[in-house]
Amino acid sequence: MPVITSIDDLKRLYKRRVPKMFYDYCESGSWTEQTFRENTSDFQSLYLRQRVAVDIAGRSTACKMIGQDVAMPVALAPVGLTGMQCADGEIKAARAAEKFGVPFTLSTMSICSIEDVAENTEKPFWFQVYTLRDQDFMRRLLDRAKAAKCSALVITVDLQIMGQRHKDLKNGLSAPPKLTAKSIANMMTKARWGLGMLGTKRRFFGNIVGHATGVSDPGSLSAWTAEAFDQTLDWNKIKAMVDMWDGKVILKGIMDVQDAKMAAQVGADAIVVSNHGGRQLDGALSTIRTISEIVDAVGDKIEIHLDSGIRAGQDVLKARALGATGTMIGRAYIYGLGAMGEQGVTSALSVIQKELDLSMAFCGHRDINSVTRNILQIPKGFTGHWE
Ligand SMILES: Cc1cc2nc3c(=O)[nH]c(=O)nc-3n(C[C@H](O)[C@H](O)[C@H](O)COP(=O)(O)O)c2cc1C
Repeated sequence: MPVITSIDDLKRLYKRRVPKMFYDYCESGSWTEQTFRENTSDFQSLYLRQRVAVDIAGRSTACKMIGQDVAMPVALAPVGLTGMQCADGEIKAARAAEKFGVPFTLSTMSICSIEDVAENTEKPFWFQVYTLRDQDFMRRLLDRAKAAKCSALVITVDLQIMGQRHKDLKNGLSAPPKLTAKSIANMMTKARWGLGMLGTKRRFFGNIVGHATGVSDPGSLSAWTAEAFDQTLDWNKIKAMVDMWDGKVILKGIMDVQDAKMAAQVGADAIVVSNHGGRQLDGALSTIRTISEIVDAVGDKIEIHLDSGIRAGQDVLKARALGATGTMIGRAYIYGLGAMGEQGVTSALSVIQKELDLSMAFCGHRDINSVTRNILQIPKGFTGHWE
């Protein structure tokens, strides 16, 4: 059993064990990948203020996200095709999350269906929807999520159209993977992955295939996006979706103060300051640079979460210090899942919690709820005075 001490350890194993097509799908941003890179590197421009001689015994990272108790302020983000990173990947990730005590979010574009995950877990999970044109399908999807007792609806608002990720086009990304000489040659080197896939029946988009009509190529993420996603989305439609769900709603993909105000106005319970992990608008600011002005503008009106770029517990701590009630991680847990299945996701969560706990202690705090901006040393201009 390899000794895992960081998320990077998991990433190295993940790269070895998962076919290139799915590694590339995860490990890429749109176009030049500037935003993808800066999401992570900007966390390193924020420094932590060391304190000493403070009683740090009996520490806790437990807090609440949208009123739910969580072991630390981290939820697993919705990630499409998770069941292609590892057989039955969504079920494995959801199980790891529920044992750890953090929320799991199932993507619309998952391989395991809502029902698959509900049948194989005990605690409610969150369900993420895209804003689709087919209102009937949308209603049925929400009914299925309600029947599965999902405890929050995450509406992703930053993907009416899909950002271009060059590698996916070059690799011909699809689920299940198309069998070409190149893809077969690569998959032959991934025995553990291949055996897992042979042992499961879940190899298609579980929430879509058999439920949606008029999809020309149900294996292709880009074809489905182009055909099914609602490019005419506006705030009235978002409000209608919020009203359709009688429970907690989180709007994911907010990067602008005006949009954050609208999110509060349409009755969402929380927003995720997110640029989709740098996969949509390349050239957008990193989320850690963006969050402060959003917290200043709407922090007293709506709960604010942050994702994009988190690879360590220190990043979670920095986001909390800048006003995020919670965070989401995407790639960090996918690396774990591809590396070692459910155990790898647990490992990713353990690494992050340990880093969070120790860093919080070094900053002189024993309760995550008492952490404020004071723990940070923020370079002048970090949050920017943009014209
Ligand atoms: C491979 C991959 C697939 C994703 N699929 C979805 C999705 O289906 N729905 C969604 O709302 N966000 C999706 N996202 C975005 C994540 O929910 C999250 O915003 C992002 O991963 C956060 O950045 P991080 O990976 O740097 O933590 C995806 C991200 C990745 C990396």
